[in-house]
Amino acid sequence: MPPFLDLPENCRLNQPDIDLQHSILFALINAVETNNSIELEVVFKSLVEYVDVHFSYEEKTMLPESYGFYHQHLAQHRMFEKKVSEMRSRLTSGDQAQEVLRQELRLFLHDWLVDHINGIDRQLFATASNYRKP
Ligand SMILES: [Fe+2]
Ligand SMILES: [Fe+2]
Repeated sequence: MPPFLDLPENCRLNQPDIDLQHSILFALINAVETNNSIELEVVFKSLVEYVDVHFSYEEKTMLPESYGFYHQHLAQHRMFEKKVSEMRSRLTSGDQAQEVLRQELRLFLHDWLVDHINGIDRQLFATASNYRKP
């Protein structure tokens, strides 16, 4: 299977549907990192909308009765949403504050995604009885 270009090699889970969705999240991060002219509000809007698509999809594939980390996994997703919503509420018109927020968002997104994908996402898809086949 050819790799998704935006997905770092150490984040590939060999689940084509999930890898595609994760690569879209990394494409968003790459856009923030390489294009300073993108309005932060646009980034937040796209992020919130796509994360909702991805988390809902992933949560529907989990089988609560056989997946031992079901509740922890959902809690991590909710924590991410809360953090992004908290950052979004700090959008102001000041250029300096925007730049600080942009840097913070870049770091948070990158670190959280790499940790989450390599931790609990990888563990979820390591055992077939944890999830439904797509
Ligand atoms: Fe997840
Ligand atoms: Fe995920």
